[in-house]
Amino acid sequence: MSEPRTYTWSNRGFRWSVLSLVGLTVIAMLVGFIWLPAVHPDFQSEGLWASICRAAGVPYRWGGAGQAGKATEPLSTKVVLDRQMARVGTTEAVGRGATLALNCTMCHGARGLSSSDAPNLAGQYPEVVIKQLNDYKAGKRSSAIMQALAGRLSDRDIADLAAYYAYLPKARTAPTTYDESLPSLVRTGDPLRNIAPCISCHGGVDQKLGAPWLEGMPKAYLVTQLKAFATGARRNDSEAQMRNMARPMTESEIDAVATFYARKAQSSAP
Ligand code: HEC
Ligand code: HEC
Repeated sequence: MSEPRTYTWSNRGFRWSVLSLVGLTVIAMLVGFIWLPAVHPDFQSEGLWASICRAAGVPYRWGGAGQAGKATEPLSTKVVLDRQMARVGTTEAVGRGATLALNCTMCHGARGLSSSDAPNLAGQYPEVVIKQLNDYKAGKRSSAIMQALAGRLSDRDIADLAAYYAYLPKARTAPTTYDESLPSLVRTGDPLRNIAPCISCHGGVDQKLGAPWLEGMPKAYLVTQLKAFATGARRNDSEAQMRNMARPMTESEIDAVATFYARKAQSSAP
């Protein structure tokens, strides 16, 4: 039987194991918090301290505006989504919304299906319409025409318009099978680049509160929006979730997902 070992500082093996553990930890931290973030474009924008905090997953500035982008920029959106907004509107709200929507048909179509490159609103989730109109109204999403129009709408107008559009039939239902014929970003995303599958938020498999229905949207609109997220020209998505996914997408991936969502329907909804 050997003597029980004593793990004290005077024990050479013990000393070495502690020192090498500390050394390795320091190296791992340098690599993980400084070197990798420093070469990754998503992390570079706001300096070393921001990179370190982002790598560690903690806010680098307290006080609310941390996620919004540039330090001086206001919050990307003021709208706090809640389940109430996603509720089906009353018949009265739908009726009132239909009247208000007469001002919108010129671009968004008589039944909410645009024949120009404006987004479809028919069948859009109510909380999406509410959020987007409030973002235009507050100047958080820019569009000369929509900012001017939304600025004149009251909260009730917005809720009623959302109820009306949610009530109209969608351009198209979602595919019923998710096989290899769909673009891989739509179906599986790309975990290595932090891109989650589009169908996990945009309907089809699951819908995340506030994520718009995309099926049947005009292709040009989808491409414009994805590029605007990628450059940060559009930044009303909370937590930068769309910006972070659009940024690493290539031109041809943007084209592929937009083509997919805008594809002409064989199995269109009624
Ligand atoms: C002159 C054309 C025009 C008129 C009229 C118009 N819109 Fe729009 N709307 C647009 C365009 C173009 C966009 C996309 C703008 C952008 O790039 O942000 C848009 C975007 C929207 C969006 C965002 C949709 C989404 O999927 O993100 C909503 C909601 C909306 N409009 C509602 C309305 C409502 C409600 C009215 C009537 C009160 C209206 N619009 C009138 C052209 C118009
Ligand atoms: C984690 C959830 C999530 C995933 C995954 C996701 N999105 Fe989004 N997307 C959102 C949300 C939320 C919004 C609304 C942002 C806002 O509030 O303006 C949005 C907005 C959009 C818009 C703007 C639509 C409009 O009418 O305003 C497009 C286009 C879009 N996403 C495309 C995609 C594509 C393509 C993919 C897959 C590569 C994808 N998204 C994956 C959550 C997601």
